[in-house]
Amino acid sequence: MQQVRLSEFARYFFMDPALLADPYPMYDRLREADSVQFDETLQVWILTSHAAVTAALRDSRMRADRMSAGREIPSDFAYLKPVFDFIAHQMLFKDPPDHTRLRTLASKAFTPRRIELMRAQIQAIVDELIDAALPAGRMDVIADLAVPLPTTVIIRMLGVPESDRERFKRWSDDFAAFLGTRWLSSGDAALHSLDEVRAYLRDLIAARRGNLGTDLVSAMIAAEEQGDVLSDEELHANILLLLAAGHETTTNLIGNGLHALLRHPDQLQRLREQPELAPSAVEELLRFDSPVQNTGRLAGEDLEIGGKRIAKGQFVVCQLAAANHDPAQFAEPGQLDIARRDNRHLAFGFGSHFCFGAPLARLEGQVAFETLLRRLPELRLADDAAVAYTPNITFRGLQSLPVAF
Ligand code: HEM
Repeated sequence: MQQVRLSEFARYFFMDPALLADPYPMYDRLREADSVQFDETLQVWILTSHAAVTAALRDSRMRADRMSAGREIPSDFAYLKPVFDFIAHQMLFKDPPDHTRLRTLASKAFTPRRIELMRAQIQAIVDELIDAALPAGRMDVIADLAVPLPTTVIIRMLGVPESDRERFKRWSDDFAAFLGTRWLSSGDAALHSLDEVRAYLRDLIAARRGNLGTDLVSAMIAAEEQGDVLSDEELHANILLLLAAGHETTTNLIGNGLHALLRHPDQLQRLREQPELAPSAVEELLRFDSPVQNTGRLAGEDLEIGGKRIAKGQFVVCQLAAANHDPAQFAEPGQLDIARRDNRHLAFGFGSHFCFGAPLARLEGQVAFETLLRRLPELRLADDAAVAYTPNITFRGLQSLPVAF
C-alpha cells in the first residue's frame, strides 16, 4: 500500500496529541514558511498571518456558507446530511442577504442593555461558585466555575429551565465536537442530539408563543412576528447557536486564561494589584490562547490573497490563533502582557461575522478573573495539576484545571 505523507497541519487536523497540546510552534513554522499556503494533503488553503486572515474575513467574495454550498459530503457520511442542513441555518454559516436578516433580527433580542443587566447576576453566580469551593480549599476551575458560569448565564438569558442544564451542555458539547473535528468521529452523537434539540425547541417555542416574556427566546419569537420572518428551522438553529456558542467558548476563555495567568505569576500579581486592568487582561488572554482557533470560508469567486490565487470553490482555513501570534502585528507575541495596547486580536473573528456574543463573553471573563484573584489570594495550580486539552482543533480548551487556594 502506498504510504501517504501527511503535512504537519494535516497531522494537527487529525489530532496529533503533541500538536494539539501546543500548536503555537507549528503556527510559527507555517507562517514563516508561507502565510498563505495550499495544503496538498487536506486540499485547503491555510492562512496564518494577521494580514492574510483579516483580508480573507473582510472579503465579500469569501462565503461563510460552507455547510450547504458547493461542498460534497463523502458518501460514507451522507447519513449526517440532516446535521449539516440544520447547522447551515445558523447565521455563522450564512451570507447576505440571509446573514444580514438573521443577525439583525437576533440583535434585536441581544441588546447591550440586556447584557449589562446581567452584570449583577454574573457577579452573584461567580461568588456562589467560589463560596461552594471554599471549604475544600481546592477546585477544578473548569468543572466548578468555567462550565457552570456561562451555562447558567445563557440559560437565564434564554429563559429556559435550569433543570435542563445537563441536556443543554450535552447538546452543545456534541455540536462543538462535530464542528471541531468535522464529522470524523462525532457524527452519531450530533445526529442523536439534533433530534432531541428539535423536539425540545419545538415544544419550548410553542409554549412561549402564547406567553411571551422578557427572555431571549421570547424576543426572538417577537422579532419573527414583526413580519421579517424567521422560519422555525432558523429559529431553532439560531437558538441552538446562542446556547452552544455561549457555552464552550467562554468556558475556554476562563480556563485557558487562568491557566496562562498561573503560568505567568508576574502578570497574575499585576492583575491582582491593578484590577482595573481586567478589560485589557481579558483581551490579552483571548489573544494569547484563543478559545476559537480557526474558522473557515469558501472562495465564492477566483480571488487573490497575499499574492496567491485562490480558485472559486476552494476552502480556506483562517487560523485565528496563528494570526494572534503574528510578530508583524504584535510586539513579542509569545509574551503575555495584560496591559498590551492596540491589541487587535482576532479571537472574536473579524468583519461581518464578528462574534455576536463578544460583549457578554468579555463581561463574564472580566468578572470571573477579577473575582477569582480578589477572593483567592493564595490561588495556585494544584500540585498534582494534570492539565490536558480537549481533542478539538477549533475549540481549544482544558478538560480540567485543578487549583488550590
Ligand atoms: C470567549 C468567548 C467567545 C469567543 C472566543 C467567540 C468567538 C467567535 C468567533 C471567532 C466568531 C466568528 C466566526 C467566523 O467568523 O466564522 C464568533 C461568532 C459568533 N459568536 Fe462568538 N465567541 C465567544 C462567545 C460567544 C457568546 C457568549 C455568544 C452568545 C451567547 C456567541 C455567539 C456568537 C454568534 C451568534 C456568532 C455568529 C455571528 C455571525 O455569524 O454573524 N459567542 N464567535
